[in-house]
Amino acid sequence: MNFEDVQKAVDLFSPEEMKRLRGYIEHREQQMEQSSTIVSVESLFTTLADIRSKMDVTKFLAFLENLYLPYDKNNIRRTTNLDLIPDYSHRRGGKIAYAEWAHVIGIFQTIIGQHLPRNDSELMWLDVGCGTGILAIAAYPLILEKGKYIGIDVQRRDIEFCREHYPASLYEFQHLDAKNAVYSPLQDSIHTPWKLEDSSVNLVTALSVWTHFDQADALFYFQEVDRVLKSEGKAFLTFFLLDKEYEQSLAGRSPLQSAYHKTPTDKWIFDQYSVSTHWRHPEWAKISENAIGVTPTGIQQLLEKTDLLWEHTYLGNWKEKFGLFFQDILVFKKRR
Ligand SMILES: C[S@@+](CC[C@H](N)C(=O)[O-])C[C@H]1O[C@@H](n2cnc3c(N)ncnc32)[C@H](O)[C@@H]1O
Repeated sequence: MNFEDVQKAVDLFSPEEMKRLRGYIEHREQQMEQSSTIVSVESLFTTLADIRSKMDVTKFLAFLENLYLPYDKNNIRRTTNLDLIPDYSHRRGGKIAYAEWAHVIGIFQTIIGQHLPRNDSELMWLDVGCGTGILAIAAYPLILEKGKYIGIDVQRRDIEFCREHYPASLYEFQHLDAKNAVYSPLQDSIHTPWKLEDSSVNLVTALSVWTHFDQADALFYFQEVDRVLKSEGKAFLTFFLLDKEYEQSLAGRSPLQSAYHKTPTDKWIFDQYSVSTHWRHPEWAKISENAIGVTPTGIQQLLEKTDLLWEHTYLGNWKEKFGLFFQDILVFKKRR
């Protein structure tokens, strides 16, 4: 264990908490009749268990992770991008666990990689609603030799984090000054076009972003996807698609936890209409943009004014059947 790792872990504690931590360690040592000032691993863990019961769980997890993850990362053998997974306090976007980030990164890198032509042309990857960069990490092996990833988000703190965290040689991050009722309610501009040229990117991704757009946002930004994509470029956007499979799943939904994800199956019932019958949210959503689902007709409405084709759907496990990811992944392709 090097000094910096320990320092990073310990920095999370306030002086008051440090005092308590020391107190516990000393108390344990006395109990174990140890005269040495070096704490045994066993006594440290017992102490930590005691502290855990009295401490904010988030802080405690961050503390443990800072001690442990540097060692786990040292054991990564077959990838180079997982080292980029941020620490506990910067993992957001509905997925928090380190393992779940690694899992989702693998899913998207695999699916997207399979859809891309295997040639030498440069890959310009635009990620809308990048958050703290889960797809930036998925992009790494694909942009490494010839390419660039551009992440856009309405939250300035996420953009600032990403600019510091990801290597500037491969990554660019842009703050979008636009309003989202959940994520940036204080920003004024309703719809802000992206600062990107027409036909300038080969790939657009948005993970759990159109699921937070009302109908007007969904339409506006879908047209932006169409505008910035090059001919034959692709877009991978996730949705709660309110299709036949969803309708069929309704009868079995209840407050019980799903077999496929760790939320109750009745959490994902989209029965409240947001403006039109094709855009719906669940009853618990205080703001409709907390979670929005759309019918296939709604998707057709998005497609109407664009040159995009709906090429493929990977159904998600929120439908209560095996799925590659939680939400549905829809793949669109720009015509020639
Ligand atoms: C559920 S989070 C997902 C973040 C990230 N894609 C992930 O999966 O970790 C939704 C993200 O979309 C961003 N967002 C909301 N409205 C946006 C908009 N109009 N343009 C760009 N980003 C937006 C939010 O700030 C937030 O980071």
